[in-house]
Amino acid sequence: MNTDKIKSTLLEALHKAGSIARAAINAPKEIELKAEYSIVTKTDMECDRVIVETIRSKFPDHAFLTEESPASGNSPSRWIVDPIDGTTNFAHGYPVSCVSIAFEHEGVLVMGGIYDPFRDELFFAEKGKGAFMNDKPIHVSKVATLTESLLSTGFPYDTRQHVDEYLGVFRQFLLAAQGVRRAGAAALDLCYVACGRFDGYYEKNLQAWDKAAGMLIVAEAGGKVTNYHGAPLTVTDRANLASNGVLHEAMLAILKPYA
Ligand code: IPD
Ligand code: CA
Ligand code: CA
Repeated sequence: MNTDKIKSTLLEALHKAGSIARAAINAPKEIELKAEYSIVTKTDMECDRVIVETIRSKFPDHAFLTEESPASGNSPSRWIVDPIDGTTNFAHGYPVSCVSIAFEHEGVLVMGGIYDPFRDELFFAEKGKGAFMNDKPIHVSKVATLTESLLSTGFPYDTRQHVDEYLGVFRQFLLAAQGVRRAGAAALDLCYVACGRFDGYYEKNLQAWDKAAGMLIVAEAGGKVTNYHGAPLTVTDRANLASNGVLHEAMLAILKPYA
């Protein structure tokens, strides 16, 4: 596996898509409804196309799982892409969104990069080699009690069907933590756990592209990523918990009944 070429391609695709998103955020948006409350902008589609073209020009045989185009290819090497994570934010001009790209080989996440074009922050990890923000090593926090913790969560697109459950869990964390944020970009939530801005993050019903890169970045930054049963997280799990490790059991105690 040519990891240097995979890394340079991943970074090139992240930066190209990030530049497109940065240039478009304050312009009028062309928005389509994918489902009730779930939207896609023309910029999501453009970023998706540029990322796939960039990667395919270097790795024509690889497979793709991207949010805005049909899955393609049949190869043990697969790219998992969220062209804009935080689309609702982006569509409203709220600059909390990012581009997320992961590379997987034979089902193992090998590399992940997430670029926030609005803060010019690039999060990157390669399996076994640590996690970085703008080339500086990052680590999860050492916060040891929920009382002192800043947590993050998200409300998935099916919130209207499960509002009581989601608010029930949220209520428990609101009462237990110093603060709970809902910023609206799952990939950034994971990066912020990795670099210690958040101490933990939980959310149900993420898709593989929301978390593939971020879960590797958290793990490489010394954090823990599991499902709500406490088993190691896979990209197909529905219930997702990431933490600094120290708080994991305390967060699981609240989440397990909702596994
Ligand atoms: C969404 C964001 C949001 C999360 C949703 C995701 P999108 O991704 O990550 O924070 O709560 O579950 O679907 O649609 O903006 O790419
Ligand atoms: Ca997403
Ligand atoms: Ca998206």
